[in-house]
Amino acid sequence: MSLVKPTILVTGGAGYIGSHAVLALKRAGYGVVVLDNLVYGHRDLVEKVLQVELIIGDTNDRALLDELFATHKIAAVMHFSAYAYVGESVTDPGKYYRNNVVGTLTLLEAMAAASVKTFVFSSTCATYGVPKTVPIPEDHPQNPINPYGATKLMVERILADFDGAYGLKSVCFRYFNAAGADPTGLLGEDHNPETHLIPLVLMAALGKRESVFIFGTDYPTPDGTCIRDYIHVTDLADAHILGVEYLLQGGDTAAFNLGNGNGFSVKQVIDTAKTVTGQNIKVVESDRRPGDPPILVGSSDKARKVLGWEPQYPALQEIITHAWHWHQQRHAK
Ligand SMILES: NC(=O)c1ccc[n+]([C@@H]2O[C@H](COP(=O)([O-])OP(=O)(O)OC[C@H]3O[C@@H](n4cnc5c(N)ncnc54)[C@H](O)[C@@H]3O)[C@@H](O)[C@H]2O)c1
Repeated sequence: MSLVKPTILVTGGAGYIGSHAVLALKRAGYGVVVLDNLVYGHRDLVEKVLQVELIIGDTNDRALLDELFATHKIAAVMHFSAYAYVGESVTDPGKYYRNNVVGTLTLLEAMAAASVKTFVFSSTCATYGVPKTVPIPEDHPQNPINPYGATKLMVERILADFDGAYGLKSVCFRYFNAAGADPTGLLGEDHNPETHLIPLVLMAALGKRESVFIFGTDYPTPDGTCIRDYIHVTDLADAHILGVEYLLQGGDTAAFNLGNGNGFSVKQVIDTAKTVTGQNIKVVESDRRPGDPPILVGSSDKARKVLGWEPQYPALQEIITHAWHWHQQRHAK
């Protein structure tokens, strides 16, 4: 007997992580509707590659949301849409508070009005600020050092209050560095502008960029460069399925880190990319950037224990290999 699974609304489903979540939902048998304003998203990805319904619109548009919830039977919302450029959030904070906080609040109010009470939220390790301990556990103090991190922390607070007032249950996933691409090569990372290390390195390997900058080589780490926690985007997507199922089965509001638990330095990433691509990547060593902690690595023990999540692709070489395959295809077009 085949059981029909409910329909999930995915905001930001035309973006990097959201599109991988849509694929995971489809593969798991869920119905999917994507809401994306296409400011950064890719229309063809949703309509042609993933072949799910795309509603082009903004989370700040309450009338559109009311119509969406009235015309679709939505069991839960996975909320990926946001602006996520840390530097821009410092120079243009209003843009971030409006989109990430007000846009999310508008969505949550529309959900409460439509009695949709299950929400999975893309939060971030940036809510922790400069870590006092690594690996960072979920109960580590949250003191974001930039407006981007502050917007995500504000939403976490709003979610606690919406649970209290309306019984709206949520899972906040605090991602570390999303990386890699769907292992079958269907989807990948296509940000414009791109600021993430692995795609920048791979674009340099493809000759699309002249060089890669290393910001700071004098950090208190074994090779002097910053250490970050890279988590495969397919592992993130799988966690979202587990998160929504946890809530649909009556789980309580909770926050989970999603990371690899293993840190890799900037130099390790570049060296691994050289091995994977067989290309020599030109590196420019530069000064530290303000606000970059030396080490950001999370503990994901809680997600393993409560959700049964187990990352399938923890090896850096595999993460970079999947990303490389996708970038080769993408830039061959
Ligand atoms: N990429 C990472 O490493 C990382 C790490 C931590 C947290 N996050 C969070 O994960 C989420 C997804 O990140 P991503 O890298 O896939 O970003 P992305 O930019 O690829 O995807 C975001 C999508 O949201 C859409 N969007 C933005 N504002 C919208 C609005 N108001 N209404 C409708 N659509 C809107 C964009 O068009 C885009 O398709 C974001 O919330 C981000 O803050 C990402």
